[in-house]
Amino acid sequence: MLEIGFGTGLNFILTAGLANQHQTVIDYVAIEYNLPPAELITGLLQNNAPQHSTLINTLGKLIATETSSVPFSFNEFITLTLRLENALQAALPKASFDAIYLDAFSSKNNPELWTANYLQSLHDALDNNGILTTYSVNRSFKDALTEAGFDWKKHKGPPGKREVITARRYPQRN
Ligand SMILES: C[S@@+](CC[C@H](N)C(=O)[O-])C[C@H]1O[C@@H](n2cnc3c(N)ncnc32)[C@H](O)[C@@H]1O
Repeated sequence: MLEIGFGTGLNFILTAGLANQHQTVIDYVAIEYNLPPAELITGLLQNNAPQHSTLINTLGKLIATETSSVPFSFNEFITLTLRLENALQAALPKASFDAIYLDAFSSKNNPELWTANYLQSLHDALDNNGILTTYSVNRSFKDALTEAGFDWKKHKGPPGKREVITARRYPQRN
């Protein structure tokens, strides 16, 4: 699992909580170039996802003490690799992720992460049938997804988001 834009880690904590609940192994790689301080992250997460306080405390300790991008195991299910770098320059392994959260700022604020060119690099990082998901549904972004080779669909969003998109990598043809 890859996330572009770790921010305050809410996506990570909610995903890790589900991995625990379903006893599913998750290898989460997140890229972030402006990581907020540990106290800010844990404070916000404790407010927004208090049911995951054990995970939040562990994440807070990790961020306060360790900023290298070494995989860190929370338990037998959850591993987090936090890569503190600019996503635009971050080398991504090919065909390696089942899912990607594209959660950078909006296409208005940092358009460079929403172009067909950048989406193509995310497409290549996904495994066959891997899925990218994001909250941007504007016309130019959907066109860029199509150009990058994704098969996308709109869905009703969670509270606070009218719509979200899932975009599937086409299986490679031999
Ligand atoms: C909407 S917030 C992410 C929220 C986060 N996913 C969460 O669940 O709390 C967007 C994040 O993307 C990061 N970001 C924006 N452009 C980036 C880039 N080029 N490289 C790495 N991180 C970037 C910002 O620093 C910010 O933290």
